[in-house]
Amino acid sequence: MQSKQPLELFRDRFPVGARDVLGPLHDLYTYVDGRFLRGDQAVVSVWEHSYLYGDGVFEGIRAYNGRIFKLDEHLERLLESAKSLDLTVPLSKKELAEVVLTTFAVNRLQEGHMRLSVTRGVGTMGLNPRNSKAPSVVAMAYPFAPLMGDKAIRMLTSTVRRRRCDSVDAKIKSANYLENILAKIQSNKSQYDDALMLDHNGYVAEATAMNIFARHKDIWSTPTTVACLDGVTRRVVIGILESFGSAVAVRNISLHELYNADEVFCTGTGAEIVPVQSVDGRSIGDAAPGPVTEMVIKKYRELTREGVAIPELVPAR
Ligand SMILES: Cc1ncc(COP(=O)(O)O)c(C=O)c1O
Repeated sequence: MQSKQPLELFRDRFPVGARDVLGPLHDLYTYVDGRFLRGDQAVVSVWEHSYLYGDGVFEGIRAYNGRIFKLDEHLERLLESAKSLDLTVPLSKKELAEVVLTTFAVNRLQEGHMRLSVTRGVGTMGLNPRNSKAPSVVAMAYPFAPLMGDKAIRMLTSTVRRRRCDSVDAKIKSANYLENILAKIQSNKSQYDDALMLDHNGYVAEATAMNIFARHKDIWSTPTTVACLDGVTRRVVIGILESFGSAVAVRNISLHELYNADEVFCTGTGAEIVPVQSVDGRSIGDAAPGPVTEMVIKKYRELTREGVAIPELVPAR
């Protein structure tokens, strides 16, 4: 039997290249450790500990109309997540802001989403972080429609619980989302739009990548951050509801209470404000976006006009 060239081993089993999957996104510039790389050049090492062990942190950030919304809040959370993982971020907050703004600018994106990652970096095998000597910073900006579309969603309660704070605290936005991915798989398999995750005491925690709010008569509630991300959008929305004169209770919410809410919506940078139509087949309110939810969506859109302006890049002479 004639042996194949090692470089061609089973090549035909991997027919799909990055360009096929990414389409035009493939040509965007990505910031990788001090350089802007394009297309096939924008890759990280297979020895990167975030790839090998999920050892890193990230943020999802949005730009609207030439401005980055809540940039400082996202960078603050990134630095806090990194601190918990004892991950030394090689750039200051000001420098990270410059990376975010410039990455949108070089791609001429006025609107879009960014994934900003700080990872443990390249290291020899073994999970000890000491094996990695230089953390890495990657910023990817791209056009991105609201994650869940613009319709009210149907949620399924997952059997996969959100992490306890004595595990990886849910407030750490780490590069390891396996619980949330397992929950998402459950909702996919059962043809729901997203999964609802509970905490270890059985209270509502959050959706797979969104926080959650519920209204009972005049009172809005949202879970404490014991088992969910301290969402930037969550904080903005608490402010919006309070500006409407509504009380917002940050408390434990049971499934029974959620099923019997008058309105429920989810929040997130990627998804924005998402009305919830039903939870585990129980209709919420009239199974259509509630009146206050509509008002929150409108106000949120207005607020997203505020932010840090993306600079215009002047070509170097
Ligand atoms: C698990 C989880 N919860 C909540 C959110 C919403 O957070 P934010 O509003 O800061 O985007 C996200 C965002 O990605 C998330 O991943």
